[in-house]
Amino acid sequence: MSHSTNREPIGVIGTGYVGLVTAAGFAELGNDVWCIDIDEAKIEGLKQGRIPIWEPGLAELVERHRGRLHFSTDLADALEHARLLFVAVGTPPTYSGDADLSAVHAVVEAMPPSDRHALVMKSTVPVGTGATIKRLFDEQGKGGFRYVSCPEFLKEGSAVEDFLHPDRVVVGDDGDWAGDAVVDLYAPLDAPLVRTDIKSAEMVKLASNAFLATKISFINEIANVCEETGADVVEVAKGMGLDNRIGPKFLQAGIGFGGSCFPKDVTALKQLAGNSGYHFQLLNSVIEVNELQKRRVMAKLEKHLGSLVGKEIALLGLAFKPNTDDMREASSLVLSARLQAAGARVRAYDPVAEEEARKLIRGVDFKASALEAGEGADAIVLVTEWPEFGELDLGELAAAMRGTLVVDGRNFLDAAKVRDAGLFYEGVGRPALKDREPARTA
Ligand SMILES: NC(=O)c1ccc[n+]([C@@H]2O[C@H](COP(=O)([O-])OP(=O)(O)OC[C@H]3O[C@@H](n4cnc5c(N)ncnc54)[C@H](O)[C@@H]3O)[C@@H](O)[C@H]2O)c1
Repeated sequence: MSHSTNREPIGVIGTGYVGLVTAAGFAELGNDVWCIDIDEAKIEGLKQGRIPIWEPGLAELVERHRGRLHFSTDLADALEHARLLFVAVGTPPTYSGDADLSAVHAVVEAMPPSDRHALVMKSTVPVGTGATIKRLFDEQGKGGFRYVSCPEFLKEGSAVEDFLHPDRVVVGDDGDWAGDAVVDLYAPLDAPLVRTDIKSAEMVKLASNAFLATKISFINEIANVCEETGADVVEVAKGMGLDNRIGPKFLQAGIGFGGSCFPKDVTALKQLAGNSGYHFQLLNSVIEVNELQKRRVMAKLEKHLGSLVGKEIALLGLAFKPNTDDMREASSLVLSARLQAAGARVRAYDPVAEEEARKLIRGVDFKASALEAGEGADAIVLVTEWPEFGELDLGELAAAMRGTLVVDGRNFLDAAKVRDAGLFYEGVGRPALKDREPARTA
């Protein structure tokens, strides 16, 4: 899909996961894109073709459209060439749980008065942010600036694919030229469009993430009850997911969700509700269940190994999910800290996230492969379901380990094969394999 007919040039402010994918995606649709970031090293690297993040297909797309992608630290470049300025700066959580909007406000401040431009908000922001920004524009004599909310739903690990084939495009605006222009920009993708008011668009994003997080915490609680009752949550989820009112996605029990979006967006929505005088009970539980879920791994290890003092524990996978190097709020952060606090020695392997992990995790011995991490380990914990872990030579792994315990935090491995290799399998919400019928052989 490569379009080249006279498409509108756009600006993208913030070239992180969302900004760079959005820029490359619109370049693929034929748009010239001016990408602005305050991080000079990042922009310099991008000019030289270095992609700062690991995201499937992104490097190829940026390379293919080098002629259409312009990188700069100077906002004036985007203002000169583009009417629509997509904002994709970070909105991390603050200590209070509210979203930190300082980067968004820095962008708003930096805008000059204009009757020709519009801010198109891709960053995830609390409901009411658009109204506040419009008020700020008015107060600062920039009332001519238009504002559009266009929340982003891409998933790290398949972000390029998600940009090019979105489930829906949501545009919240005041019904002026800017909203029309954003709708036109997305038209080639032929995605279902929800055009609405700004506040509703802002809420669609927060509510969608909160709902998905709720689904995960729900199945994790079902898994915990399965552990008590002997049911197998994988079978349960299969049976539930075939009901098309429920659907099979986000019903994989595991050791909890992480990442740059779910934890912060769920907390931000809970906080937003609280600030508005409403106590969002359900989301409190979603967050608490998720926190406890990461820690349940400790009990599984202790059940088999007793005290963890001096035990060698190998973590397989560190990124918050496969196909990304993003470590933000990854379950591995909590787990590696808890294990060390309990006296265990932790070694770890991740196919791509080691560099990011080294910035955040202390005291862990990083290994070059899963097998190397397993050598001499008392137990292995699969934290992130990287596809390569499905190909592990389990016999070789079993021979290299000191102990036999495999805790599969994502129910990803073939339990019977693990057992056949002479290892002891513990999943999440599944009967420990020793209680089950032996696997049949052909
Ligand atoms: N990462 C995701 O999967 C995802 C998905 C949907 C929505 N979002 C939302 O999109 C937003 C961006 O997320 P991200 O993961 O891409 O963040 P990120 O941290 O990867 O990137 C943010 C970028 O903005 C730059 N920046 C900060 N202040 C700036 C300024 N004043 N001017 C120009 N550039 C500036 C930073 O240097 C950085 O490169 C967040 O609000 C996030 O919640 C993220």
